[in-house]
Amino acid sequence: MLKQKIKELFANDCSGHDYWHSIRVLNIAEKISKTEKCNNYIVMIAALLHDTDDIKIFETKDYKNARCIMSECHLTEDTIENVIEIIKEISFKGTETTSPKSVEGKIVQDADRLDAMGAIGIARAFAYGGSHNRAIHIPDCQPNINKDETEYRNNEGTTINHFYEKLLLIKDMMNTGCAKVIANRRDGYMREFLKEFYDEWNEQ
Ligand code: ADP
Ligand code: NI
Repeated sequence: MLKQKIKELFANDCSGHDYWHSIRVLNIAEKISKTEKCNNYIVMIAALLHDTDDIKIFETKDYKNARCIMSECHLTEDTIENVIEIIKEISFKGTETTSPKSVEGKIVQDADRLDAMGAIGIARAFAYGGSHNRAIHIPDCQPNINKDETEYRNNEGTTINHFYEKLLLIKDMMNTGCAKVIANRRDGYMREFLKEFYDEWNEQ
């Protein structure tokens, strides 16, 4: 029932924030949660709902989408507040970073960040870039790694720059040991991709 509601909410998204992003975050959060002492139930709900009030997609106030879905599913007030707290804490704002207080929040944050890495992360970055009219690559356009939140959101830069501004920095931000291992592998794959990208770009 919760999954069905998420599916309906994200039905029209082509910017890398579709239903399947939520499902992947759910699956990887579940995997991480098996290696940590935590409340698995809260992890699963927070993972599924973590983007339901994302400011890039929705214009909701006070996490209205997440609150509505959870009350329609008859979750307790306690659970709802617990999950909202996690959703509040995990959104990545520019290059600044905060780690959630709860272990459940840390797990969902890791899972969300992992989905921005590796082959899927590459696919999502170009999907997002395309949907925001960003160029793939402009050789003399330098990355800006010290953006504040507004600059991060309004960035006119290229998708290749996004790798230096965010994607290659995520590996060192993981909270859990399990996520660190996965992040290392995915980071290596992105670096290989960039190397091949430049080799092809300069091929003559
Ligand atoms: P989250 O998944 O935590 O909401 P973001 O909203 O920052 O993270 O990004 C969502 C997806 O869109 C990620 O895969 C991210 O790499 C991609 N993305 C965000 N900003 C850009 C950008 N400026 N250029 C290319 N891809 C981006
Ligand atoms: Ni997300």
